Amino acid sequence: MGFIEEIKRRRTFAIISHPDAGKTTLTEKLLLFGGAIHVAGAVKSNKIKKTATSDFMEIEKQRGISVATSVMGFEYDGYKVNILDTPGHQDFAEDTFRTLTAVDSVIIVVDAAKGVESQTRKLMEVCRMRNTPVMVFINKLDRPSKDPFDLLDEVEEELNIKVRPLSWPIGNGPQFKGVYNIYNKGLYLFTPNQQVLDEGINFSDVNSPAIEEYISKDAADVLREEVELVEGVYPEFKVQDYLDAKLAPVFFGSALNNFGVRELLECFLQIAPTPLPSQTESRLVNPDEPKFSGFVFKIHANMDPNHRNRLAFVKVCSGKFERNTNYLHVRLGKNMKFSSPTAFMAQKKSIVDEAYPGDIIGIPDSGNFKIGDSLTSGEKMQFKGLPSFSPELFRYIENADPMKSKQLSKGIDQLMDEGVAQLFVSQFNGRKIIGTVGALQFEVIQYRLLHEYGASCRYDAINLYKACWLKTDNMEELQDFKKRKSQYMAKDKSGRDVFLADSSYMLQMAQNNFKNIEFHFTSEF
Ligand code: G4P
Repeated sequence: MGFIEEIKRRRTFAIISHPDAGKTTLTEKLLLFGGAIHVAGAVKSNKIKKTATSDFMEIEKQRGISVATSVMGFEYDGYKVNILDTPGHQDFAEDTFRTLTAVDSVIIVVDAAKGVESQTRKLMEVCRMRNTPVMVFINKLDRPSKDPFDLLDEVEEELNIKVRPLSWPIGNGPQFKGVYNIYNKGLYLFTPNQQVLDEGINFSDVNSPAIEEYISKDAADVLREEVELVEGVYPEFKVQDYLDAKLAPVFFGSALNNFGVRELLECFLQIAPTPLPSQTESRLVNPDEPKFSGFVFKIHANMDPNHRNRLAFVKVCSGKFERNTNYLHVRLGKNMKFSSPTAFMAQKKSIVDEAYPGDIIGIPDSGNFKIGDSLTSGEKMQFKGLPSFSPELFRYIENADPMKSKQLSKGIDQLMDEGVAQLFVSQFNGRKIIGTVGALQFEVIQYRLLHEYGASCRYDAINLYKACWLKTDNMEELQDFKKRKSQYMAKDKSGRDVFLADSSYMLQMAQNNFKNIEFHFTSEF
């Protein structure tokens, strides 16, 4: 197969949801379609979680939440599908954000009884920032659900995007009969716990009397009425609106019962974007450029605690990646070749000789990579879109075991390279400050420092509001600012100046008094 065909057949996406809406279950079912896994019977997701790839960190098993982000690839009908899993817990929002920089589209799972929940709203904001096309899967129709029209209104309002149903549920809960596929005009009947895949029954039209052979006349009448309403209320579906991130196609189903999943997958494969161009600081990189380029969006540490090795997840942006070929590590200005890059197929990792745009490869790493690093065939360019955000919570981190100070600082450095949290060094007292999105990360850091590096740490309270990265052309004013605010100045991991404001009032005063300085809550502006 040619290079361009290889790119065109790739679909790289993430499934996002509020915890418990059914992301893990849907992922598993998609893998099932791809023949990537074989699970018989309706599987409980807690059972799935024990075996799913998204579960390779001990800490995650302990806490039962998806701390790690993993990649699952499979082949289906000539397509190469790459699903990037994201941690559902909100304290790991930054990890999820970085994963979203590596995908070309997103499927959002919504619980049909609960509707749009907080975490989904936040994640959707990230999709909007990046103009990522989204599709919505409304899940758990086998349980008593909200009215489908109300759900659509809610999605439209809460996620602030126009919607267009492409399938329609027939009843819900104990009365759930099935789904009418508006996109291809097929009727799919629901049998609880069915794992055999239904071919569906095709009708030229929802008004076909033949439908009544399969569902009662009453149910058919309601369906006809509702589909007519859908066609009247919602504009005709245009794929381009979806690709432009202006409209979200919506599907209904039940992931647990494997119902409505194939309709979602097949439509997704047909219309979801192929690998898109990526922005660097100097230019836009097109996937079909012959020379390889890619960036690290995630680092996964110590899957085997006996080995300090890490795995850097690289998204291939252009060209063909080849094993044992020299590539430029742009930040280090160093040529490197990789003898054992891995691809992620279902729940397995295996060494690959080549990878194409849209693919994710894992590169075993002993400490050369940081999140955001670029790899190229020689061009010195830096991919954009992986900024640090101001943390929400801050604490001083101190050594609790004087015999292990070396281990502690190595551990902290490596955890920061992985993007677990952010480190700032106060320019006033030289103390290290850890900034996180959620409280859980402090526990994760403490746990991992102890178990992976043998180092103990202790936290001291510090009252801070935001970290601000500074930008100005007026060096004199900057020097003056740094002198006057020396107590609040720190350096980030890359040595950039950061102002740690202790309240919104203080920040406002600083903005008023130093008009030539811009204060940014992200490191990329
Ligand atoms: P998540 O990754 O988004 O957190 O959700 P996950 O797939 O783990 O699903 C959460 C729970 O919802 C699981 O229940 C799962 O079986 C159930 N679930 C998923 N899809 C459906 C569906 O279509 N219908 C119904 N009825 N349930 C569904 P669980 O593992 O038994 O845990 P819990 O119920 O004790 O939380």
